[in-house]
Amino acid sequence: MAKAKETVSRTLVVALVLSIVFSVVVSTAAVLLRPAQIQNQNLDIKTNILSSAGMLEPGSSAEQIEEAFARFDVRLVDLDTGEFVEPSAVGVQDPMKYDMYKAASDPQMSTNIPSSEDKAGIKRRPNVAKVYTMSENGQINRVVLPIHGYGLWSTLYGFISLEGDLNTIEGLGFYAHAETPGLGGEVDNPRWKRQWVGKEVYNEDRSEPQVRLVKGGVSADAQDKEHKVDALSGATLTSRGVEQLVNYWMGDRGYAPFLQKLREGEV
Ligand SMILES: Cc1cc2nc3c(=O)[nH]c(=O)nc-3n(C[C@H](O)[C@H](O)[C@H](O)COP(=O)(O)O)c2cc1C
Repeated sequence: MAKAKETVSRTLVVALVLSIVFSVVVSTAAVLLRPAQIQNQNLDIKTNILSSAGMLEPGSSAEQIEEAFARFDVRLVDLDTGEFVEPSAVGVQDPMKYDMYKAASDPQMSTNIPSSEDKAGIKRRPNVAKVYTMSENGQINRVVLPIHGYGLWSTLYGFISLEGDLNTIEGLGFYAHAETPGLGGEVDNPRWKRQWVGKEVYNEDRSEPQVRLVKGGVSADAQDKEHKVDALSGATLTSRGVEQLVNYWMGDRGYAPFLQKLREGEV
């Protein structure tokens, strides 16, 4: 009997010691790996930004990605006024550290979108967005803007890149979504993404975003072809979501006030 007792208490002691040892190992690993994790996340974001701007060379090393990304200025923009704001206005020193998606769930840092205006299906919009600009001889020649919105099953997160005319699309890509592979998931298909290159966002007087995804494909003689991209086949709802989210973010509630200020040289 005494032997059995000893075995039970010994087993408990061994289990306790092992669980303490393993929890120390796991939490130490988590703490030690955190900086590398953050670095990888940052590298991933930079890769996606370069990719949407058509600036990502295949097989680029981390160093080459950092070097290419360093040509961008990372700035924060008040979406209502379209003006740049200091990072301290959102509680950070480095604009790269500002998370506009986290801000979107903070009532102090975001705005509720009335459902009649919520084309992107996102419910709340951060007051301040993080934008990536590139300049040459003091002239902005490229702007990469974060965009997001609801497809069929999920919120799609991505970037749209515009040329210096702030109208012509240089590229568009989504880095996170949960649409069905082979259907809505074809938003990741490089062939589909290539169609966006050279398309124009705005109508002639730049007052309205006009992007359309056309079911059945854009015919060679289609009217307003410059604003049109083929819808994804078998994925009309994801396509509609993409059309709506692009037009939302390029519109008055998104980046239009900022792009207008840039065009007029006011920021
Ligand atoms: C399992 C399953 C997954 C689907 N995934 C998607 C999707 O990711 N995106 C989408 O728009 N439609 C998806 N659909 C199809 C939609 O339900 C709907 O039929 C479709 O969007 C209509 O597009 P179509 O008119 O091009 O056929 C899926 C359907 C099924 C059965």
